[in-house]
Amino acid sequence: MCGIVGYIGKQDATQLMVNALRRLEYRGYDSAGVASIHADSLKVHKRAGKVADLEKLLRKNPGKGSIGIGHTRWATHGNPNDLNAHPHTDNSGEIALVHNGIIENYQSLRKKLLEEGYVLHSETDTEVLTVFIRSIYDKINDLAEAVRLALAEAQGAFGIAVISTLEPDKIIAARRGSPLLVGIGDSEYIVASDATAIIQHTRQVLYLNDNEMAIVTSEGYVAKTIDNEAIDSKIHNLEFDLERIERGGFDHFMLKEIYEQPSTFRDAFRGRLLPQDGQARLGGLIPVVEKLRRAPRIILAACGTSWHAALVGEYMIEMLARVPVEVEFASEFRYRNPVLNKEDVVFAISQSGETADTLAAVREAKLKGATVLGIVNVVGSSIARETEAGVFIHAGPEIGVASTKAFTSQIGVLALIALFLGRMQHLSQRDGVAIAMALKQIPEQIQYILDRSEAIKTIAHKFKDARNFMYLGRSFNFPVALEGALKLKEISYIHAEGYQAAEMKHGPLALIDEHMPVVFIATQDEIYDKVISNIEVVRARNGSVIAIANEGDSRIAELAEHVIYIPNTIPMLTPILTALPLQLLAYYIALERGCDVDMPRNLAKSVTVE
Ligand code: F6R
Repeated sequence: MCGIVGYIGKQDATQLMVNALRRLEYRGYDSAGVASIHADSLKVHKRAGKVADLEKLLRKNPGKGSIGIGHTRWATHGNPNDLNAHPHTDNSGEIALVHNGIIENYQSLRKKLLEEGYVLHSETDTEVLTVFIRSIYDKINDLAEAVRLALAEAQGAFGIAVISTLEPDKIIAARRGSPLLVGIGDSEYIVASDATAIIQHTRQVLYLNDNEMAIVTSEGYVAKTIDNEAIDSKIHNLEFDLERIERGGFDHFMLKEIYEQPSTFRDAFRGRLLPQDGQARLGGLIPVVEKLRRAPRIILAACGTSWHAALVGEYMIEMLARVPVEVEFASEFRYRNPVLNKEDVVFAISQSGETADTLAAVREAKLKGATVLGIVNVVGSSIARETEAGVFIHAGPEIGVASTKAFTSQIGVLALIALFLGRMQHLSQRDGVAIAMALKQIPEQIQYILDRSEAIKTIAHKFKDARNFMYLGRSFNFPVALEGALKLKEISYIHAEGYQAAEMKHGPLALIDEHMPVVFIATQDEIYDKVISNIEVVRARNGSVIAIANEGDSRIAELAEHVIYIPNTIPMLTPILTALPLQLLAYYIALERGCDVDMPRNLAKSVTVE
């Protein structure tokens, strides 16, 4: 949420920052802006809307200079209008600041500044922070120190970048809670919220940790804590390619990411699956193997789509390892004071590795003494760094706001973890081999579904004007029903509910009539017959049934108006295959409705605020 960038070097800062903001736009697209310094003067260009709107403004009135900061906003405090857009400046227009996060004590700071005679124009917490820095600068005449002292008093979350004509040769960057890194080039440096903004320029990065700041000039940088302590700043090498963050001929990132799933899923188990032994080799868990073996309980904490993957993980781990598993909404975790024992193992599941609620759950669980591990996509992210050990899902950068490939890879990794734990407990080699063999087939089976997407387009066209949708599934596919409904809601703005199919008769059945399309996930497993009965109940109330069923299931065709077939696999892996048609259905419905698939309204990728 919110993307920030800063540049210092020899290039045209504005042009470079606009390109970077385009890459960061998935983090927020309510407004965009840049500030640059040229000939001792600070110029700010900003406006409500997308980066393309900012570019229009810059075409008429270009920015100049080789130092600047930029921002793409997901609004928290104040409407998404021109005034509230970042960068914000102090009263004299000499200090500019961009911010990702929330300054929680901004009301008291605001009051204090107004009393001291400073003027505030916008409704944002960010302007308050900018003017607060100015108020300290006025007393000490040192920009980096003014930023440091202001941040020591600020409460809440921030990733910030500051420039000023008062000291025009530096960018000051700092973070607490919101991600920030410094890309290191040849006499040039780029500060950014994430690596997608800098990969075009350099692979060398310094990740700032919470409560750290960097004072960056074109000659180098000094990094320290906000408490003024020296830090050991290690340089990391980025390991993904530029092509992975481009659309590559697809109309949308979401579609590209859906179509990447045969390879991203393969990457999740590459080098980790030992089919002959029916075992998984998870190098990232080796340091904690004994803790895992002894764990009386496993807790999976996550948000949104990652939480749905966690539900599938619960079923898989309990089935294979016979260890009790609890799935927690990371956003509730620390507020309900959960019972945690030191022997418990907590897995935090997060695509971005930056979700504020999940990060807070990690910290809470660590505080209580549990072993905290990560299942994360983004290498170098906060959750990856703050957990004791873990397993990367290796899905590559996910740019589409609606998560797709991360979901299937998370389930793939959870299946490996379930296999790994199972084989340490009671799972036989023979059963392990069957699971490993089934996992190996999944990439081709995903491809099979993708090759038949035309049928899904037809269904999307027919139901594009529906006002509500119901998604029903049971057992391993109940979480997929939740995920299918979430995908539709977030990108097409159609109200959708995911439900456990058998629970429907306890209330939601009242919603069914001829206007309610009902998507049933009806794969052939031990409760298939029960799901068929649930379909009959819906048909008896004139609901239109769309079924996701196994190839070769002739019975379902007689009951459902539309059937989308998936290849056969073992029940625990069906969620990976059943999720695919639901991702495509949501995508094509959103497209039919003219929605902005990659930038759905009100949303943003990587929720770094509570
Ligand atoms: C939905 C979606 C969100 C995320 C959630 C957690 O398509 O993308 O629900 O799954 O915000 O994000 P991560 O996995 O990055 O922690």
